[in-house]
Amino acid sequence: MYWLGIDIGTGGSRAILVDERGVVKAGFTAPHEDMIMARPLWAEQRPENWWDAARAAIRGVLGKAGATGASIRAIGLSGQMHGLVILDAAGEVIRPSLIWCDQRSQPQVDFINQTIGAENVLACIANPVLTGFTLPKLLWVRDNEPAHYARIRRVLLPKDYIRYRLTGDFASDVSDSSGTALFDVVHRRWSREMGEGLGIPAAWLPTVHESPEVTGTVSALAAETTGLAPGTPVVGGGGDQASSAIGNGIVEAGIVSCTLGTSGVVFAHTGRPAYDPAGRVHTFCHAVPGKWHVMGVTQGAGLSLQWFRNQLAPGTDYDALTAEAAQAPAGAHGLIWLPYLMGERTPHLDPTARAAWAGLTAKHSRADMVRAILEGVSFSLYDCLRIIEDMGVPIRSVRVSGGGARSAFWRQMLADVFSKTVITLETQEGSAYGAALLALTRETGTVEETCRRAIREVTRCEPASNAYRQAYENYRALYPALKPIYSRL
Ligand code: XUL
Repeated sequence: MYWLGIDIGTGGSRAILVDERGVVKAGFTAPHEDMIMARPLWAEQRPENWWDAARAAIRGVLGKAGATGASIRAIGLSGQMHGLVILDAAGEVIRPSLIWCDQRSQPQVDFINQTIGAENVLACIANPVLTGFTLPKLLWVRDNEPAHYARIRRVLLPKDYIRYRLTGDFASDVSDSSGTALFDVVHRRWSREMGEGLGIPAAWLPTVHESPEVTGTVSALAAETTGLAPGTPVVGGGGDQASSAIGNGIVEAGIVSCTLGTSGVVFAHTGRPAYDPAGRVHTFCHAVPGKWHVMGVTQGAGLSLQWFRNQLAPGTDYDALTAEAAQAPAGAHGLIWLPYLMGERTPHLDPTARAAWAGLTAKHSRADMVRAILEGVSFSLYDCLRIIEDMGVPIRSVRVSGGGARSAFWRQMLADVFSKTVITLETQEGSAYGAALLALTRETGTVEETCRRAIREVTRCEPASNAYRQAYENYRALYPALKPIYSRL
């Protein structure tokens, strides 16, 4: 018997199968089309493409494991958060999704703050509204594409569109819904004040469940094209960050996770909805029923390295790039990278922030440039960690995952920059794994018990040097110095 986790990421959709002990039997990723970036800071993807990729991933993983649909006991869904999927009365996608890193909606954020009042917003949703969140994207469509807006009957998040295609149900979970700016995070339900105050019909919004709860079952139609068995239960699942945290066993205080994907995230479990009054980290519901989490987000983490590779070192693989970075000394000969390729969330909350190398001289090599990128991303993640620690959330160790965590060199750098023990786990399957564990929770009873069964630490990296202290201070001084010119660029 297997449990299936499906993650609708940015680069692709991944499906994995786990057994009753949470051991991964097979995984399969189907890539997505490139993001559509019609203008700087715009980012869109086609939900139909996610569905094609999700189906390919499901068929692929079943084939790889030699498993039949009938051997799947339950399915968990995870996905990139905040994306806006709008459907018409026939359930058709009205326009491509404005995804998590799309930053076009500042006028709508301003409108929300004026209409509801910034203080009231914080009281309603436990967070400030950010340009990346779903609600201002919806209002952008209202303001700029009225014909599209007039056809809307349903608003869904990316993974919940896949749920709709799998089961026919309009449903979501508390962790992903927390990132819409329409969700009352403290009471774990849609915020009436936000919806009514901004004229968003409640009927557009999906029903919301705790993450391990069943939201529906696979339809006969979906079964035909996926190889799944009709009637297979689908659980709520979670936003990719909450799911990834489950995959990292972040279900108690003291251990935080740091995910180095396209974006980078520092994530801590909390027993109550603690929030940063400045709103620099997000306070969202956790995928553990009745629990919350705080997280800080670096928009351009793995993205920084990916951008460098694609633009300046095409064809070079990431291992070769990190090996090259290791040739340069700590501090990269005074070169500093600001990773703000898609604006920044934590700590600046500034969609206009821009990336930069500062301190470049003719003596700098490509190794310095790559090292500066790894350091700049680590510094930005350290900004996240410090805010969480300052909120009184204890941090004993940091469990790292995501593509960047495969590099032992980068892990040591994180241990040194954070001054914390950095740990990797046996299973590094991120969000898809967390989604599978949420499905497995139907068997074990609680998410905590699932994690006890499934999660094992394999490597530990202790902080060994404080060589980055000065570079971090310099890094911190750069954003305020450059801020005045961002709006002029
Ligand atoms: C979380 C966030 C990203 C996206 C894409 O707030 O924006 O993690 O979910 O991975």
